[in-house]
Amino acid sequence: MTENTRTIEQVGVIGLGTMGAGIVEVFAKAGLAVVAVDGTTELAERGRGFLEKSTGKQVQRGRMTEADQAELLGRVTFTAELRDLAAADLVVEAVPERLDIKREIFGTLDGIVSDQAILASNTSSLSLTEIAAGTKHPHRVVGMHFFNPAPVLKLVEVITTILTDDDVVTSVRDLATQMGKKPVVVGDRAGFVANALLITYLARAIRTYETGHVTREDLDAAGRVGIGLPMGPLTLCDLIGLDVAKEVCGVLYNATHDPSAAPPALLEQMVAAGRLGRKTGQGFYDYGEQADDGSPAGDVVTADSVEALATALSGDGVTVELHQGGDNGRLAEVVRTAAADQATIDRARASLLAAEVTPVVGRDRAGRVRDALLLPHLNDAVKMLDSGYASAEDIDTAMTAGCGYPRGPLQIIDDLGADRVLEGLRAMAAETGEPALHPSPLLVEHAAAGRPFRG
Ligand code: 3HC
Repeated sequence: MTENTRTIEQVGVIGLGTMGAGIVEVFAKAGLAVVAVDGTTELAERGRGFLEKSTGKQVQRGRMTEADQAELLGRVTFTAELRDLAAADLVVEAVPERLDIKREIFGTLDGIVSDQAILASNTSSLSLTEIAAGTKHPHRVVGMHFFNPAPVLKLVEVITTILTDDDVVTSVRDLATQMGKKPVVVGDRAGFVANALLITYLARAIRTYETGHVTREDLDAAGRVGIGLPMGPLTLCDLIGLDVAKEVCGVLYNATHDPSAAPPALLEQMVAAGRLGRKTGQGFYDYGEQADDGSPAGDVVTADSVEALATALSGDGVTVELHQGGDNGRLAEVVRTAAADQATIDRARASLLAAEVTPVVGRDRAGRVRDALLLPHLNDAVKMLDSGYASAEDIDTAMTAGCGYPRGPLQIIDDLGADRVLEGLRAMAAETGEPALHPSPLLVEHAAAGRPFRG
């Protein structure tokens, strides 16, 4: 540990839902003694069940021995009593996103933990400053924002407020590093780095889906295969929880009034209907049923090369546009105009699948499906950089370590070429008239200068 840090040996975690249980696992794996608290004995036991299941899977996969699992579980005490946190050096709360609940918990902790203890929140949407301001010692309140699944994803956003002591920030940052995580220290702004970019991208994807121009499977394929992300946007929404996504959209929209971040109507309806994603068994996908593989039958056309195949399949109001291949395969956009008939589209889809190319059927719009997802997201990253909130390196780290991106957005721009990204955005802005698609002036500068963002 560097100087000016506090000793952290015993930690507490409050709230043992998906995130809280994952955070307990992270601390216990790092060898820390953990007191894991939830509101009732039953909820605390449910938390123990999550930890047993998660570590049990790792034993099954040969990633952990049974003895290691027993030792890890032995480091965690499950309880329904906040007063069991009296000896904690650091407490992380991961309770539902309600300011009143968080403030009450932090207020109660003031009377339980020592004055030296650090109080951290895993909030993804509330203002840390508001949470801190409600406590007796706001200088010891900090954000420690983990990403789902917390045991897998390395990012920890360490959120400072204008009230936070420097040594509190240093201690939390160093602890995250010691646990093998990648901390990114930033100020208290709506959505911090990763959610501000990710949730806006997801909201746009949901709005694209709302148009009916593209199926959920094709939209997800555009993200997974076309961009190379670990999951498509709608699958990711189901993982995060649609209620959480909607909550973060609301916070982002209130802070920025950027229409791109506003909760899409479909998202609001799904939340109102109780379809919250994986945790309720239904979201954009139904987790109880066999997934549709999106491959309707059709006559298969073959050709010696994929390029020749794309040419052969184009015609009758349909064009097939190939993307470069990536780690998750190769994508072809099947662009459907009003003159296209379904049989031509079905044939194109079946032929591309037979050639091991992933088809995405969309309308004849600027950016098609892949760039309509990707380019505004890249533009948002440049706007964030231009605002001075985070460095290019921190933005890229947030998205690689927090969301499993193979490359961060600024690196993607460098690889694609800022001029190409700029041209794509301009075409989309001209077609839709959407102000949010106007390229960031910083992107314009980099394109003109031919200067990379990283490098
Ligand atoms: N707990 C512990 N380990 C887990 C896990 C969990 N819940 N889920 C997966 N793992 C482990 C697996 O055991 C496996 O480990 P191994 O390689 O040692 O065997 C490894 O992670 C990979 O898992 P899988 O092979 O089952 O699956 P994938 O390779 O498809 O990866 C994924 C799954 C890690 C979820 C990956 O798809 C991913 O990174 N997706 C992006 C998730 C993302 O963007 N999260 C951020 C959401 S935003 C957020 O959380 C902030 C909030 O404020 C909204």
